[in-house]
Amino acid sequence: MTLIAPSLLSADFGKLSEEVKLAEEAGADIIHIDVMDGLFVPNITIGPLVVEAVKKSTNLPLDVHLMIVNPDKFIEQFIEAGADILTVHVEVSLHLHRTIWSIKEKGIKAGVSLNPATPIYSLEEIIKDLDLILIMSVNPGFGGQSFIPASIDKIKRTKRLINKNKSNTLIEVDGGVKISNAKEIAKAGADILVMGSEFFGQKDYKKFMKKLREKLNEN
Ligand code: DX5
Ligand code: ZN
Repeated sequence: MTLIAPSLLSADFGKLSEEVKLAEEAGADIIHIDVMDGLFVPNITIGPLVVEAVKKSTNLPLDVHLMIVNPDKFIEQFIEAGADILTVHVEVSLHLHRTIWSIKEKGIKAGVSLNPATPIYSLEEIIKDLDLILIMSVNPGFGGQSFIPASIDKIKRTKRLINKNKSNTLIEVDGGVKISNAKEIAKAGADILVMGSEFFGQKDYKKFMKKLREKLNEN
């Protein structure tokens, strides 16, 4: 089954707790939280305090996507705040193996994200250690951008690399995912679809999730 992870970046921050609860009630599988530092990406979003608040509003796993230049410095804080999956970007990790294991040692899942221009072969040596690969299908920083079509082939190649290594690594796809392209992305090999503007732009999250699941289950 393809898992759906609404991205809080497009939620109404004035009533974040309610938004999270509504997403859970609608049948979302994971809550995706985008952490941006204004350095790695040209935007600033949220920190561990907000993650802690979100944790109190839901039983769903929290998938924390760190778009920050110095992830090592903050790993512990985000785990303490309640992250269940912590994802760092390969572009800022000098010692990725150490970083990944410092996350896994704390008993949560570790992911690595790739920008659209970053090749998947950068993960070849470490693939067996990864719980998750987060493929950015837009340049990170903002919600509501268009899906980069070349991402489909990248997802397929990532899937091949995972299979070749007999690894259980999951593929998550983030950026420009809509009900209209969800099936194609899942078919290419995505296990988790992040949806920001498409999900929180809906009036009725439950209705939307039902429609989305139907689409994903079509042959
Ligand atoms: C972008 C973030 C995404 C963002 C996706 O840098 O990593 O998680 O919320 O938003 P949409 O689904 O609107 O492209
Ligand atoms: Zn994200």
